Amino acid sequence: MQIVILNDANEVAAYGADIFTQQLKKKAESVLGLATGSTPVALYQELIRRNEAGEISFKDATTFNLDEYLGLDGSHPQSYRYFMNEQLFNHVDIDKDKTHVPPSDAKNPITACQEYEGHIVAAGGIDVQLLGIGRNGHIGFNEPSSGLTSRTRVKTLTKATIDDNARFFKEDEYQPHLSITMGIGTILDAKKVVLLATGENKAEAVHAMIEGPLTAACPASALQMHRDAVIVIDKAAASKLK
Ligand code: F6R
Repeated sequence: MQIVILNDANEVAAYGADIFTQQLKKKAESVLGLATGSTPVALYQELIRRNEAGEISFKDATTFNLDEYLGLDGSHPQSYRYFMNEQLFNHVDIDKDKTHVPPSDAKNPITACQEYEGHIVAAGGIDVQLLGIGRNGHIGFNEPSSGLTSRTRVKTLTKATIDDNARFFKEDEYQPHLSITMGIGTILDAKKVVLLATGENKAEAVHAMIEGPLTAACPASALQMHRDAVIVIDKAAASKLK
């Protein structure tokens, strides 16, 4: 694991954007693994800016998102497909047909999960996978106790994650308790992994991921086994490191 500690969230976003910029410059037809949530928003804004400035192009890139709520179709404002369109895809020169989000409305989710894995393999595997981290150490929607070699599958969200994400839903709005997520094994297959974390509320999870034991109790600790994992954090998220 390479640990990069920066001053604040802006520097973290810029550092993350540099990694994606280098990747796209090196290989225009890169396969990018993407994430949702609050943390990557500033990074996506920076990539949009660089795309508009002509510094990078997504024209030949393919993307695979980590996860999606089961049962929310892409037109639902809380779906991760909607999020990706709004936060990145609608604003860059990407071919939407080459953007993939786990299928939330599949008649047979189990088959759909296997097919998602197949699409990643057919695209040549993920070159760089972007990750955030949950306060409970989850990556994607791989909650604590997820198998360290797990593949894309349906996962029940923990109460902690449902509570954390309640801020995105209106009070009387249906909030799904099930998701489809890439597994930890799927994530570990990416050639490079970049995890971003900012803010003091991530400090405990960051400590467990980097300095704790390799354990399913902290899914992000599985990144200790990855050959090219870069952990980019601000000082607040690093505050519990020894
Ligand atoms: C989102 C995802 C999640 C988030 C995590 C942190 O696609 O996979 O694991 O990265 O819940 O979310 P934020 O960034 O909102 O704190």
